[in-house]
Amino acid sequence: MKTEHAPTIRRADYQPLAWTVERIDLHFSLDPDATLVKSRMVCVRNPAAEEGPIRLWGEALERLSLLVEGAGPAAGTVREADGVLEIDAGGERAVVEVTTRIDPRANTTLSGLYLSNGGFFTQCEAEGFRRITYFPDRPDVMARYTVTLEADRAACPVLLSNGNLLEEGDLPGGRHYARWEDPFPKPSYLFALVAAKLVALERTVATASGREVLLQVWVEEGNLDRSEHAMESLIHSMRWDEETFGLELDLDRFMIVAVGDFNMGAMENKGLNIFNTKFVLAKPDTATDVDYENIESVVAHEYFHNWTGNRVTCRDWFQLTLKEGLTVFRDQQFSADMLARAAGPEGAVSARAVKRIDDVRVLRAAQFAEDAGPMAHPIRPDSYREINNFYTATVYEKGAEVIRMLHTLLGTEGFRNGMDLYFSYHDGQAVTCDDFVEAMAEANGVDLDQFMRWYEQAGTPRVKASGAWDAASGTYALTLAQHTPPTPGQPEKQPLVIPVAVGLIGPDGRDRPLRLEGESQPGATTRVLALTAAGQTFRFVGLDAEPVPSLLRGFSAPVVLELDETDERLAFRMAHDADPFNRWDAAQRYAERVILALAGGQASAVPQAFVAAFRALLNDAALDPAFRAQAAALPAEAYLLERMSPADPAALRAALIATMRTLGGALADDWLALIDAMRVDGAYRYHPGDAGRRALGNLALRYLAAAGDARGLAAASTRFESATDMTERFGALAALVQSTSPAREAALAAFHERYRDDALVLDKWFALQAGAWRWDDAVAPTLERVRALMADAAFSLSNPNKVYALLGTFFRANAAEFHAADGSGHAFWAEQVVALDAKNPQVAARMARALENWCRYAPALQSSIRPQLERVLAAPGLSSDVQEIVGKALA
Ligand code: PHE
Ligand code: ZN
Repeated sequence: MKTEHAPTIRRADYQPLAWTVERIDLHFSLDPDATLVKSRMVCVRNPAAEEGPIRLWGEALERLSLLVEGAGPAAGTVREADGVLEIDAGGERAVVEVTTRIDPRANTTLSGLYLSNGGFFTQCEAEGFRRITYFPDRPDVMARYTVTLEADRAACPVLLSNGNLLEEGDLPGGRHYARWEDPFPKPSYLFALVAAKLVALERTVATASGREVLLQVWVEEGNLDRSEHAMESLIHSMRWDEETFGLELDLDRFMIVAVGDFNMGAMENKGLNIFNTKFVLAKPDTATDVDYENIESVVAHEYFHNWTGNRVTCRDWFQLTLKEGLTVFRDQQFSADMLARAAGPEGAVSARAVKRIDDVRVLRAAQFAEDAGPMAHPIRPDSYREINNFYTATVYEKGAEVIRMLHTLLGTEGFRNGMDLYFSYHDGQAVTCDDFVEAMAEANGVDLDQFMRWYEQAGTPRVKASGAWDAASGTYALTLAQHTPPTPGQPEKQPLVIPVAVGLIGPDGRDRPLRLEGESQPGATTRVLALTAAGQTFRFVGLDAEPVPSLLRGFSAPVVLELDETDERLAFRMAHDADPFNRWDAAQRYAERVILALAGGQASAVPQAFVAAFRALLNDAALDPAFRAQAAALPAEAYLLERMSPADPAALRAALIATMRTLGGALADDWLALIDAMRVDGAYRYHPGDAGRRALGNLALRYLAAAGDARGLAAASTRFESATDMTERFGALAALVQSTSPAREAALAAFHERYRDDALVLDKWFALQAGAWRWDDAVAPTLERVRALMADAAFSLSNPNKVYALLGTFFRANAAEFHAADGSGHAFWAEQVVALDAKNPQVAARMARALENWCRYAPALQSSIRPQLERVLAAPGLSSDVQEIVGKALA
């Protein structure tokens, strides 16, 4: 077992292996309790490494036989220590044959080979392959695979693995087999097999170069009518990568498989992507607009990995952002392009901004918090104990921001040239982040050495901006200063390269063309300044009046912008900023100021000026509904907590309730009018334009319900009953649940009754209740509800989606209830983390992270949390996954 004493792994210690594997033939005799895995590996000496034994990792394996064919006197000598087999072999090549027995049914970790609803599935990233057979289980070992699967035909009629199907047929005893070959060398983390009772939606399409390829979406029988959107998303992704990066599918067949038990969102196994059902299945009656959107972006993400991750992979796990940051950036660009296309030329800018806002909301709520706590790490970490703990918002989302900055600095064409060069150098290799940035630098003839600090430094940089206006010369001097706060192990930080997109707004609300001192002509109205020193001043000349600066347009860098702005100025930018992202951001800043003043007791009511500015934006018919819905949604609670010092969840919740009630009540007529105006007629279709209208309509219901407006509550009840799609039905239910309406319990019960057999919809039902605020004192604490729901027949601690929906929502998205003053939430957390850890350490560690930032909370909460952290850390047999999280929190 790899518990208790997992050592710290350091990036600086990387050593190539003495032996790698050129090809591997795998044979699986699948049985739920005793699966036999025969492996035959052709091992080759690595000329780039020092002499040493063949090293094979193994975990939770029963070794039945081991045979080594190799040269040299000691060949075949075997040692085993700390989960690694060491085999001596001389010469250049050796063949190792090993047979292991594994128990898929007992595997509750969902890493390696496991069972889900009677079928066999694998998950090998990051280190799951060693739970299947002995192997040099590192991404820098790229081998060619052939795989034979053998299973009971009735239980598992479908047998899939990576690459192309070579043959299939019957075997005695009701069994059958299939043999697959993957023509591309790949690291073991991209291996996959599926043996289950599934059906496929199929499509044949031609690639850009005219090759016919077979696309399949495999789902359980009865779900075929929910697979169409995933298929369409796949086809759109293929076209986009061809058009945008000249990258084509390199296989004859590409498969997506949906599985109900899965730790993460989805996995990019070569030619055989395995997905959490949540990111595949959708039909109007069960999936919301947001579900449709997420499916499109996750399908794209996994598909894009085929080049950024699979064809070119990571040398070691410290380089994870090489594939993840880049692929998230690619899926964000894809989604923005899809939204822009649907919106047409007129709405494209706004549609892109809406997507950008979504992404930045996630970054600010999740990644900024991570960067401010004990788990803070650079996008390329220096050390870890459990790599599974480093699939983080920093590696993914901040990693994508770093790639985006390169794109901003180099331009679309320069970025594309860098990508082309990267593939021309590294196709088929396992490389580092340096290799990527060097290709970008070389292709563009620029020096990116200082830029590399983004890969080295943790923490969210602060950019402080101040302006000085000289009326006599018409000059506006903008001074930008950067500072990155210390993070664990990194007390001092060096200045970064920060692209700051700037606009200057005149008193008439219009952008001024920008001319920097020394330039002969005014240029564009937005330009990107490169802040590279600790402090720099940029002088804009030729201005007719004192401008209002609009900084960090489009969120051009993952930083906190510190700029003193009066309420009036924020309202001005809310009304006039030509950059839609910044227009939204002005509204968020103003809302944050109002809410934090209420929470801190510096104000007792929502100021009229804010209500007026909010109302003007809400009713600006020139703005599209999706944008207005973003602008009218308050900043995320997690983000606001992060901005509060000390964090006081109860005070913040009270402030949020007061703000929602004020805005709901004062603007009740506006909201009611919006409900009508935003109605979408006709049968449901997933279309961003319709989605925006539904989002704004649902938000209107939310505000009215929060304010207890009788007309709004009646509208929510009616809509709940008459809705013909999930977006509207769930929107209405959410409004009722987030209110004092007595109708909420009946609605919850009716919803449950209607969807009692639908696992994914029930996840929504669990999450809604776990995330519920207490709008009146008569309602019992949410924890009681959560405990009761754990006893529901549909709940299971073994299913990650259920855990994330019920416990994850309570711990991570309901701060005020979780941090109840009596400490009940904290004790519950410890109990559940320990219980989960015995089944699934990865899921337990994710839940454990809910308390990592405990030192930011008010002292009374800290004294309630600390003993619970200690209690978890002292639990016998605790996994290294949870140990790492809780240990760092207590350090
Ligand atoms: N590599 C997957 C992705 O980002 C995520 C993942 C990691 C899935 C580890 C499973 C296990 O697309
Ligand atoms: Zn990924």
